[in-house]
Amino acid sequence: MKILVLHGPNLNLLGTREPELYGRETLADVNAALQVLAGELGMELTTFQSNTEGSLVDAIQDARGVFDGILINPAAYTHTSIAIRDAISAVQLPVVEVHLSNIHAREEFRRHSYVAPIAVGQISGFGVNSYLLGLRAIFSHIKKGL
Ligand code: DQA
Repeated sequence: MKILVLHGPNLNLLGTREPELYGRETLADVNAALQVLAGELGMELTTFQSNTEGSLVDAIQDARGVFDGILINPAAYTHTSIAIRDAISAVQLPVVEVHLSNIHAREEFRRHSYVAPIAVGQISGFGVNSYLLGLRAIFSHIKKGL
């Protein structure tokens, strides 16, 4: 099972960016933890971060026929990007949306996600564990159809 992990804008700054909200782990720490879990589950992971909407759209388009699913933290594009949502709809791959912080407990503008209605589900508020829970979720969704 091959999964593409996408990280949106500003997540390259994890570790130093508002650590009270997003924790002290770096993006490299997040990716390393995901790779360990992927190894345990027998999955193959490719990780990619971009600050650019079009690069994320390109990565989603290119995932068709290569990956079995996408784990994505669209970051601020969650709340703004119809282009990312349309790309996900176009490739018809299962997507799990994750957020480090609980987007529903923050500012009003973060409560709406363009991705959530077309995702298998959303996991929000568990720090790095959101990604690990998300990986388990997409694994069982693809494996067992759950
Ligand atoms: C985030 C939440 C978004 O609202 C914010 O723009 C981010 C990070 C999270 O992981 O908690 O950049 O996606």
